[in-house]
Amino acid sequence: MGKVGETRWTEQTVALIRGLEAVLGRGSLLAYLVHMTLRIVEIHRVLKPTGSFYLHCDPTASHYLKLVCDTIFVSDRQGGDFVNEIVWWYKRWSNASSNFQRMHDVILFYGKSKKDRTFNVQYQGYAKPEAIEDTVRGVIDGKLVRLKDEDGNYIKRKGENKGVACHDVFELQHIQPTAKERMGYPTQKPVALLERIIKKSSNEGDVVLDAYCGCGTSVAVAQRLGRRWIGIDITYQSIALILKRFADTYKDDWPAIEADIKLDGVPRDLESAMLLANRKDDKTRKEFEKWAVLTFSRNQARINEKKGADGGIDGIAYFLLDKDTNGKAIFQVKSGTTKRSDLATLNSDRLREKAEFGFLICTDLPTKSMRDEIAAAGKFRHPLLNREDDRLQVITVAELFDMASSRGKRLDLPMARTDAVKSAVAKGDADKQLGLI
Ligand SMILES: C[S@@+](CC[C@H](N)C(=O)[O-])C[C@H]1O[C@@H](n2cnc3c(N)ncnc32)[C@H](O)[C@@H]1O
Repeated sequence: MGKVGETRWTEQTVALIRGLEAVLGRGSLLAYLVHMTLRIVEIHRVLKPTGSFYLHCDPTASHYLKLVCDTIFVSDRQGGDFVNEIVWWYKRWSNASSNFQRMHDVILFYGKSKKDRTFNVQYQGYAKPEAIEDTVRGVIDGKLVRLKDEDGNYIKRKGENKGVACHDVFELQHIQPTAKERMGYPTQKPVALLERIIKKSSNEGDVVLDAYCGCGTSVAVAQRLGRRWIGIDITYQSIALILKRFADTYKDDWPAIEADIKLDGVPRDLESAMLLANRKDDKTRKEFEKWAVLTFSRNQARINEKKGADGGIDGIAYFLLDKDTNGKAIFQVKSGTTKRSDLATLNSDRLREKAEFGFLICTDLPTKSMRDEIAAAGKFRHPLLNREDDRLQVITVAELFDMASSRGKRLDLPMARTDAVKSAVAKGDADKQLGLI
């Protein structure tokens, strides 16, 4: 066993993983549980004595993860506490099917210590009128008797406005397709869920850590509530989406907030970008391509996840041609040597996609024959900018870091506000974990 502050596997954790190996075999579920165990052990290590840990997972693995958390937080004199199993209850239209319609998720809640935990008083609204009426016409809500006036509105009594103290059933809707907060991220959590958790278990200035932060609901809520935050995600799209989410939310204050955000694990200079670009494994190179497209497009492009080994575009962005019409730009990234034929392919992709612009991001400056290809594709006059630009453009990775233009060369078009730019899905190994995390 390690010392305080060091990674600490309890004997029970080790025994549990051995037991799970015997029961589950060495498949993807065990791999996932081991991955999560490593994470949770580290989260437990960095958690303050007043800190809390919330884990949300679907029923595929939630029950196994509760065992894992028990061994890390509670057993072997760890001093922690299993606090609650929270039921997050939401409504869905029922489909005729062979099982009960799933209308809840489970969130496990642990404390680093038994008594010092931050746990702020919080109230939740009363149950919706329909729910009350389902029980006894308009009377039962928590322990309260509710009365209606002649118009059918609930009469509030003195001291009743606060609602009831939060209990372990959170009645919160999933994000609706038309909701303003919707980012298009497939597993996005509702702001209200994170708000309840963060307000309950932290105070202003505290640190909130989300080890699988996706499109950053937790970090966005933490920022708004004056908490400091750390978000971790395996894909660069997640970072890009969070930066975009913040830029859209804070507008004028964004440069100051951005200056305060420390990004780790993304290329900081030409050398680190080139190291990624030249990696042999496809997965890392794909991350480089996403980083290049999203960085150049100021996080506005949508990554084309369907791109196969046989080519295709890497990303698309929409920009405003006038107040009602969108134009289209497509992006292609090449990490090896670039030839005239790469630009010719990009141009035919551009024509097929009916896009005004095609951008090739690559490591080398364009050769003479590539410049000829650019000239042959012609120019486009943007009606709002009153400016003519080459329809085909080559941007080098070095230019993305070109400090002469303060932070490097970026797409300079008035971007359209459309959901199409928001979609982002983690692929590869992350795919398998998406349902589980
Ligand atoms: C369920 S989503 C999180 C959604 C998030 N709560 C939100 O509101 O957007 C899980 C995230 O975990 C990320 N992920 C998967 N494997 C990971 C790993 N090994 N390390 C870090 N992040 C990972 C995925 O990229 C995905 O964004």
